[in-house]
Amino acid sequence: MKHYTIVSMPGDGIGQTVLPESIKVLDKAGFSADYVHADIGWDFWCKEGNPLPERTIKEIERHKLGLFGAITSKPNKQAVTELDPQLQGKGLVYFSPIVSMRQLFELDLCVRPCKSFKGNPLNFVRKRTDGTMEEPNIDVVIFRQGTEGSYAGVEWTDPPANVRAAFESHPKFKPFSKVDGKDLAISSRIVTRDVTKRVIREAFEYAKKFGYKSVTVSEKPNVLRETSGIFEEEAKVIAKDYPGIDLWSVNIDAIMMWLTKNPETYGVFVCENLFGDILSDGFAGLVGGLGFACSGNIGKNYAVFEPTHGSAPKYQELKPPIVNPIAMILSAAMLCDHVGEKAIGDKIRNAIAEVVAEGKVRTYDMMRISGGPKSIEKGAATTHQLTDAILAKL
Ligand code: NAI
Ligand code: MG
Repeated sequence: MKHYTIVSMPGDGIGQTVLPESIKVLDKAGFSADYVHADIGWDFWCKEGNPLPERTIKEIERHKLGLFGAITSKPNKQAVTELDPQLQGKGLVYFSPIVSMRQLFELDLCVRPCKSFKGNPLNFVRKRTDGTMEEPNIDVVIFRQGTEGSYAGVEWTDPPANVRAAFESHPKFKPFSKVDGKDLAISSRIVTRDVTKRVIREAFEYAKKFGYKSVTVSEKPNVLRETSGIFEEEAKVIAKDYPGIDLWSVNIDAIMMWLTKNPETYGVFVCENLFGDILSDGFAGLVGGLGFACSGNIGKNYAVFEPTHGSAPKYQELKPPIVNPIAMILSAAMLCDHVGEKAIGDKIRNAIAEVVAEGKVRTYDMMRISGGPKSIEKGAATTHQLTDAILAKL
């Protein structure tokens, strides 16, 4: 096997708890790699005025592959007040480092699998008409466009005169034209054709490679006619190259309803950044929630894998830690798949599946109790115990 160097970016809060657990699992599963630590997150914003320091960017440029834990993010107004006093008043603006990283390294595919593990007490269940329960097997993979759309970052409060003038030229702006600048906020949704084509094609390729029967575009073309329109248009063209795979189009609002009625119907999804963010949280809730939600940010030259959860600050100080490391470990397994070591990725997923199915070692979330210092007394496993159970299966 090739030997890899992975940039390890634990970040803030529970990112620092779960990332080292995933490295233990990668080692045990036989993934051959060195891990180079890199700084990212809130502390570096406060101390240096940059949550994604230049030295971290250099490490990613050099090694091309990263594991990322989580960061703490706050709205800019609040972020500025928490800067080191020496950095205040310099006009520094806070941007989420993960959003910046996606844009900087063109990590345009944000891939989010949501698959149920047998025996997970958090799995979605449904009542049959005779009152008995059924537990559909959910196997969905969301291809969220990761660099554009509503998260492109082009937005203003009190837009400058030239921007305002451009908006004034649109007939639909009339109702807003009398609003005072300071009371007017505009966020844009930018969709470009080539980038959209790439995410749609990758979604179809994935469906083909792994035997999914459908690709669903989840947009809102009846209202967001221009941006969603490009998704719809290009999907129809690209779908012609994949005769065995159905192309479905279901509006984003409708899918939030259908996903709790018949989630097992769906396979691969493709949508814009914000919609994909929402959709992937929706499906994650059906297969175990944030403790199970993994993701990959994949570009042509770089890739960074991360759980979709945040830094969960309220659990940061708990000793021993109690959060579920599975989302991070599944993200590490995605890294293996990405570099062509799918056998190792499968091995890791199988070990997790066995531990979940046995049900002997469960973190607080899997026990459906609230998290806190008392959850261990109530029988919840610690983060380390759950990792150890997975290591034992390996
Ligand atoms: P969060 O994902 O950090 O936590 C929400 C709740 O989910 C937690 O209180 C906890 O109950 C549960 N949870 C999350 N991860 C878990 C795990 N591994 N095991 C068990 N339970 C888990 O989201 P929240 O509280 O909205 O945000 C906290 C901070 O994280 C904020 O500063 C936010 O901006 C940031 N954030 C960062 C993300 C990232 O790094 N990609 C994504 C989402 C939020
Ligand atoms: Mg999200």
